[in-house]
Amino acid sequence: MALNLIHMVAMVLSVIISLGSFGISQTEDLTKGASFIFGDSLVDAGNNNYLPTLSRANIAPNGIDFKASGGTPTGRYTNGRTIGDIVGEELGQQHYALPFLAPNTTGRAILHGVNYASGGGGIMNATGRIFVNRLSMDIQVDYFNITRKQIDKLLGAANAKEYVTKRSIFSITIGSNDFLNNYLLPVISMGARITQSPNGFVDDLINHLRGQLTRLYKLDARKFVVGNVGPIGCIPYQKTINQLHETECVSLPNKLALQYNARLKDLLQELNENLKDATVVHADVYALVMELVSNYDKYGFTTSSKACCGNGGQFAGIVPCGPTSSMCSDRSKHVFWDPYHPSEAANVIIAKQLVNGGEKYMTPMNLRQLRDL
Ligand SMILES: *[C@@H]1O[C@H](CO)[C@@H](O)[C@H](O)[C@H]1NC(C)=O
Ligand SMILES: *[C@@H]1O[C@H](CO)[C@@H](O)[C@H](O)[C@H]1NC(C)=O
Ligand SMILES: *[C@@H]1O[C@H](CO)[C@@H](O)[C@H](O)[C@H]1NC(C)=O
Repeated sequence: MALNLIHMVAMVLSVIISLGSFGISQTEDLTKGASFIFGDSLVDAGNNNYLPTLSRANIAPNGIDFKASGGTPTGRYTNGRTIGDIVGEELGQQHYALPFLAPNTTGRAILHGVNYASGGGGIMNATGRIFVNRLSMDIQVDYFNITRKQIDKLLGAANAKEYVTKRSIFSITIGSNDFLNNYLLPVISMGARITQSPNGFVDDLINHLRGQLTRLYKLDARKFVVGNVGPIGCIPYQKTINQLHETECVSLPNKLALQYNARLKDLLQELNENLKDATVVHADVYALVMELVSNYDKYGFTTSSKACCGNGGQFAGIVPCGPTSSMCSDRSKHVFWDPYHPSEAANVIIAKQLVNGGEKYMTPMNLRQLRDL
């Protein structure tokens, strides 16, 4: 009831502002709120462009289908929009959340959301060391702390708190690199694998993530969505290096993902009970992506094993996507854009489930319901 009133006042305000500035097409509309996006290359919108790192996607043909840039690469690790971009659109947000490190991510633009995600990043600081540089989750939360103070300055403390608690969705897509580019890396993390059982490592991940989500809560985050780790044994890279058959996935990475995911589900349940007034949504990305991988033809894809852009082996899964890579002829027919990342076509299906889907994938609610709380 109170919320509806706030909503109406805000709508009336935005109409007044738009009448007052006719001719300017982009009227600031904060009623649909903002996304604050944390995570790894699945949702990085360009932060790594500003880091000295070996993990970059601002090279062609990445972004070839990204309309907002006219097809020039932006640092997104896919051919078009990321899941975070599409979710923002579906929820009616005015802009894509801007990369925190981009120089023009300043002023009132941040009120439409900020993206802290970084290719190669993980829950643990040591994850992704192979890329020399990346933003791990601890640092991403430090950066939100900076944004949080900027929102106070823009809106005043009371309105800022209201905006962050009621109108902002905090999405966290992290964990894959903690396995792919940490625990499962043979040389760099030999130490971790020798000294830690999978159980011990997963314990560490869950404890760190609990701390990170609790820090966001202390900064007034109340609407969370946390994705679990996808079937990382089914990505073209893993299938290629393990020389699997088209219909098989590598079992160890999937087993580790499932082990982590089970603990994650318990953690999110715990946080729902312990963080007063917070809603923590669990997105079963594993099940969603597995459905696409297994039943790709039902969704209009012709393959879920071969990368569209990449080279090497039977699934083009060894050399990352770049200017000299071979590219498939129909990008909308591949579940995977490159050896690691889904195509925009797959991202659209996943994002729509996150926003509108039922309890099969989204518990206790979907993102449209989370937004409207
Ligand atoms: C920031 O700069 C980038 C690259 O120049 C541009 O694509 C983007 O639209 C700009 N964003 C804003 C909010 O001005
Ligand atoms: C990870 O790095 C951050 C930022 O440098 C630091 O604040 C944090 O204490 C580190 N965490 C661990 C477990 O070393
Ligand atoms: C945010 O930054 C302030 C310093 O500016 C610090 O005192 C506070 O502990 C930080 N909060 C979190 C949750 O990291």
